Amino acid sequence: MSLSQLLDHTILRDMNPADVAGIVCIEQRVHVSPWSCGNFTDALTSNYVCKVCEAEGEILGYAVLMVAVDEAHLLNISIVAEYQRKGLGRWFLGATMKTARAINMRRMLLEVRLSNAAALGLYRDVGFREIGLRRGYYSTDNGREDAVVMEYLL
Ligand SMILES: CC(C)(COP(=O)(O)OP(=O)(O)OC[C@H]1O[C@@H](n2cnc3c(N)ncnc32)[C@H](O)[C@@H]1OP(=O)(O)O)[C@@H](O)C(=O)NCCC(=O)NCCS
Repeated sequence: MSLSQLLDHTILRDMNPADVAGIVCIEQRVHVSPWSCGNFTDALTSNYVCKVCEAEGEILGYAVLMVAVDEAHLLNISIVAEYQRKGLGRWFLGATMKTARAINMRRMLLEVRLSNAAALGLYRDVGFREIGLRRGYYSTDNGREDAVVMEYLL
């Protein structure tokens, strides 16, 4: 299915507690260090901006943004493995940035694992710029890994 056919059926909506179990299953398949059910529940109860994109009742991706004053911190964005590399991540990130702009955020920030070529590729593609490196920020199976810090002025 082409991206435009996929997007014809895709909606963006708020995440709700009933989504969490399904999202955790996706999370375990796509992340090296997946968020737990509690992480998503905390994000919802803390009033973070939590969105899902969904087609015909099936969640294809989700994003979590922590917002403070005029800064939005992108904590998680994921696309279901089978739907990756079709342009959906670019579309969903764009929609998430639009949401942030609509609530008067001026800047979006994120950290990404240095080894996460897909996410780094996506963020660069969308226009994020690298503003720093946090040494040993993430844990790995055999030690620590640096995080690249990126920003986008909304
Ligand atoms: C990162 C992620 C959201 C990208 O979603 P996606 O739908 O596959 O991305 P898209 O198809 O929209 O790709 C957009 C651009 O990103 C870059 N990109 C995406 N996947 C890539 C990969 N595997 N390697 C290199 N660049 C990649 C490319 O520039 C791509 O453009 P192109 O296809 O025209 O070359 C997805 O890989 C994912 O869910 N990964 C697991 C979770 C994760 O790591 N999230 C980010 C940290 S929270």
